[in-house]
Amino acid sequence: MIIFTDTSYNNHNLCFPDSLQVSGHVEWQSPANIALIKYWGKHGRQLPMNPSFSFSLKNSLSQTGIEYKLSEDGFKYKFLFNGKRKPAFEPKLNSFFENILPIFPFLNQLELKIESLNTFPHSSGLASSASGISALALCLCSIEKKEFNKLKHPEDFYRKASFVARLGSGSAARSVYGGFVNWGKIDRELGSSDFFANKYPLQIDNIFSDLQDTIILIGSGEKKISSSKGHGLMENHDYADARYIQAKINYKEMVRALRTGNLIKFIEIVENEALSLHALMMSSRPGYFLIKPQTLEFIEKIRIFRKETNIPVCFTLDAGPNLHVLYPAKNKKEVIMFISSELLDKNNDVSAIYDKIGTGPEQIKNSKP
Ligand code: DP6
Repeated sequence: MIIFTDTSYNNHNLCFPDSLQVSGHVEWQSPANIALIKYWGKHGRQLPMNPSFSFSLKNSLSQTGIEYKLSEDGFKYKFLFNGKRKPAFEPKLNSFFENILPIFPFLNQLELKIESLNTFPHSSGLASSASGISALALCLCSIEKKEFNKLKHPEDFYRKASFVARLGSGSAARSVYGGFVNWGKIDRELGSSDFFANKYPLQIDNIFSDLQDTIILIGSGEKKISSSKGHGLMENHDYADARYIQAKINYKEMVRALRTGNLIKFIEIVENEALSLHALMMSSRPGYFLIKPQTLEFIEKIRIFRKETNIPVCFTLDAGPNLHVLYPAKNKKEVIMFISSELLDKNNDVSAIYDKIGTGPEQIKNSKP
């Protein structure tokens, strides 16, 4: 059995010989994901305090390309987002590259031009780091594959991409796969790891195969607290120990509900996780409110609609005010009618992104020579 450590992928031999001429271009499209079991609390180098479980989206994507060539004076990069420099992203990118130089030592010989864009509005408050960082990690693995003829087996390729993405942003580790994905060591779950995510390996009931996610964007989307700071709040949290136990129990019950098609249990756990995340934030020291009055108003409406119609619709939240409204594809017509008339119609600063479970990242081939 291979034992993974934080330095498993360090490889000092991955360097270009002095004489070589090197240049190329790689590009990937990678999705955002929404967690059903939340990662909240970390330790060491981006290791999770509890297992998390998510699904990757179909339409909310980052597209990232890297043009690379030999550098005269060590590692250099230029990052453009929607064609412009984005100084706000640079601290996160700088520490990401610092972290991964021992994994990709050939970067010390390269100059990169990274161009990225999102298919969803960045200002929407939707986490773009998972899609953006995962696309970047996939590009770096593609350079290794192309230039060093390594990572030929897809399992090796995606595992390394997930490991690398994790070092940039925990939830990004999950975005390198499509469908349902777990990240974090789980007792008796073969292959599960704190170091990288895995595509959930077992069969899931058909009712969840085309799970819909309509994202209700509330307000301007400015984050009041970065997720790294949010994770930090768990360090001395009064409820930390109880939370990590709760997450493990919820994880097991969630996969059981998914496997058996138990929508009632699914709804119960999804909403419990979302509300627990925000309850943890409110009970941190200091406490934060990331939800808005409209978030609560809409939660109420979703629950009333569910009760009155028996349609299995529920909500989840990430670290912000936006609601992800989840429902099976067979109820799409009624739920979209409800969302348009009850949540969107009367609210000027509310908009929606219609998304659903997706199949994962794709490499953009031959977009540039
Ligand atoms: C609430 O992955 O954004 O969305 O590792 O510090 O980059 P960093 O945090 P990040 O945290 C995500 C938190 C969450 C829950 C989740 O996606 O599991």
